[in-house]
Amino acid sequence: MDALKKILSVLYIIVLLTWIWPTAQAVSADAVKIGFMAPYVGVYTKLGIDMDNGFKLYLDEVGWKAGGRKIEVIKSDTEGKPSLGPIKAKELVEKDKVHLLAGIVHSGVALAIRDYVTEKKVPLIITNAGAPELTAQKKSPYIFRVSFANGQQDLAGGWYIFNKAGLKKMVVLAPDYSAGHDKANGFMKYFKESGGTVVKEIYPPLETQDFAPYLAEVRKIAKDADGTWAFFAGSDSIRFVTQYAEFGLKESLPLFTVGDTLDDAFFPSMGDAAMGCRDYTHYCISINTPENKRFVEVYHKKYGEDPSMFSEQGYIGAKAIVEAINAIGGKVEDPEAFISALRKVSFPAPRGPFKFDANQNVIENVYITTVEAVGDRPLNVVKDVIPDVDQNWKPPK
Ligand code: PHB
Repeated sequence: MDALKKILSVLYIIVLLTWIWPTAQAVSADAVKIGFMAPYVGVYTKLGIDMDNGFKLYLDEVGWKAGGRKIEVIKSDTEGKPSLGPIKAKELVEKDKVHLLAGIVHSGVALAIRDYVTEKKVPLIITNAGAPELTAQKKSPYIFRVSFANGQQDLAGGWYIFNKAGLKKMVVLAPDYSAGHDKANGFMKYFKESGGTVVKEIYPPLETQDFAPYLAEVRKIAKDADGTWAFFAGSDSIRFVTQYAEFGLKESLPLFTVGDTLDDAFFPSMGDAAMGCRDYTHYCISINTPENKRFVEVYHKKYGEDPSMFSEQGYIGAKAIVEAINAIGGKVEDPEAFISALRKVSFPAPRGPFKFDANQNVIENVYITTVEAVGDRPLNVVKDVIPDVDQNWKPPK
C-alpha cells in the first residue's frame, strides 16, 4: 500500500511539473525580445550610451509593454567594430531568440549585418549608423533608419552654406572611413554645384588623439578660405572643436559643422570652444516643439543631463517600434506584418514631424543653428529651418 502511495505521489509531482513548466516557459516566451546593439567602449561610447538611454526612456513611458506583451531588451556591445557586428547579431538572433534588432552607431557595423538580417528576416531599426547604401542601392525590406543617411542633411547644409551663409571657399575635414567620406561628399555636392570651392579635403583617422598636425595644415591655407566644414563625433568632436579654438582658427576661419560635432550634450566637455560656431542638424534641445520640451524635461529628470541627438534617436526608435507592435496586436513572430506596420508609422517627434520615405529612411527637418550663450551656458540656437529633407533632397529652384 505504502509503495502504491509513493508511486502515486511521484506521478502527481510529474503531472504537476509538466503542467507548471510549459506555463513558466510560455511566460518568458511571451515577451517581445529586442536586441539592442551599441558601442559601450571607444570613440563612440557616449553615442551608444545616449541612444540606449533614449530607447529605455520611451519604454519606461509605455511601461515596457506593447501589443499586450512585455518588452525585454537584450544589450550587446559592438565596441563600434564592424568585425563584431555579425558575431553579435547572430548571438542575439540565434541564442537569445530576439524578434527585432535596434541601435547601431557605426556605419561599418550596420553594413556588416545587412545580409544576415535580410536572410534571417529579422527587422533592424537603425538609430544612428548612416551608411547611405542601406536605404538605397543595398536597401532591404527588413532595414529601417530613424536617424539620417550620411549625406542627407549635408546635401541641404552644403547648399545653405554657399547660398545663405555666404561662405564660398571651404576647407573640409572628416574622419577617414565611410561615414566621414559620405557626409563630406553630401556637403560638397550642392556646395560645389552652387559655385563653391573646396580649398582642401583632410581626412584624419577615426579616433584621432591629437588634431594638431591637421590643424597646422589648415592654418597654412586659412588665408585662401572663408570657413571650415567638419564632421567629427563622440570623443573626436570634443578634441577637434577644443583644438580648433586653441589654434586660434575659430576667429580667422569660421567653423560650420554637421550637428554631431557641436551637439549640445558635448558642450560641458568643450568649455567655450564651441561658442559662436554654426551647424546644421536634425535635433538640438532648443527645437521649439511641445514634444521636445517634454522630452528634454523627462530626460533631464531621469538622467540628470541634457539629451543629445543620439538620445532622441534612441527615443523615437523605441516609439516607432512600439507603435508598429501595437498596430499588429503584438504578433512580432510575423516579420512581414511588423515591417508593413512600421512603414506606416509617423508622429510628431521631439525633432518635429517624423516619417519614413519609400526606402524606409527618415524624412526630417534640418535646423541651422549658432552656438550662443543662453543663461550661463552655450547652446545651439535655431536660426533657420529647411523642412522635410529626405536622402535625395534637391535645392529649391
Ligand atoms: C556612422 O558611422 O554612420 C556615424 C557615426 C557617428 C555619427 C554619425 C554617423 O555621429
